[in-house]
Amino acid sequence: MHICKSINSLNKVLDSLRPYKNAGFVPTMGALHEGHLKLVEHARKENDIVICSIFVNPTQFNNPKDLEKYPRMPEKDALLLEKENCDIAFIPSSKEIYPEKDRTNYDFGEIENVMEGKFRPGHFKGVGMVVKRLFEIVKPDNAYFGLKDYQQYLVIKKLVNQFNLNVNVIGCPTVREKDGLAMSSRNLRLSEEQRKAAPIIFESLKYIKNHFSSKSIPGWKEWFKSQINRFPALDVEYIEIADAETLMPVKNSNESKNIVVCTAVFAGEIRLIDNILLKC
Ligand code: PAF
Repeated sequence: MHICKSINSLNKVLDSLRPYKNAGFVPTMGALHEGHLKLVEHARKENDIVICSIFVNPTQFNNPKDLEKYPRMPEKDALLLEKENCDIAFIPSSKEIYPEKDRTNYDFGEIENVMEGKFRPGHFKGVGMVVKRLFEIVKPDNAYFGLKDYQQYLVIKKLVNQFNLNVNVIGCPTVREKDGLAMSSRNLRLSEEQRKAAPIIFESLKYIKNHFSSKSIPGWKEWFKSQINRFPALDVEYIEIADAETLMPVKNSNESKNIVVCTAVFAGEIRLIDNILLKC
């Protein structure tokens, strides 16, 4: 596997691998877990070459403490990528990604003002900025994103449309621990008590999916909070039940064909997000 730390070296390696039919790309912020490796596996199956980037993107963090504490382990990550037969690990510096201020106007409409966008102002502009830049550098045919970050997946699809980027955006199912907790690099920071409590998030989402018609939407939101509040280690930031395409909240289940339930729950200062799709 090639490790490229600059755009120059990435371009040289890409040239040396030509001709290739298609290139698959997995953008990450490192601290790789099974969820990321599944994205690489997926990319491996569908592309001649696979590139994975590791870049902790400062512009998408609205909380400086979260940025500072974000786990960083590039050497271990590179070994994991090599095992997955990734062709290139692209590990650029901030200077490579942001040589100058990006003055592009990113506008994703209402979707960036709800849920993650509401509680992490500016977050999706930062995601849009880095993903557009990475797409322009790597020039992939296909790019793979985990559906744990469901809102991010929708925003990236909008980004690709808005800027006419020639990339297929592919959403891959959330990978979970045995007890249901969605895999996330932030899980590494959970205390024993927080880790023990965290599976209630997905358990409760699953319960809503399986019993959806038995309660009103406000009733389910209250029920979810009461389930999570049983655990002193956890605190609900939001629970939203929304149209799965627009992410606009729905008041009852007939309002939309596809509905998604999305939540963010704090475990101390660590934010855990998860979601489940309901087919009506
Ligand atoms: O999902 C992530 O890890 C990040 O938001 C991404 C897409 C790599 C952009 O920094």
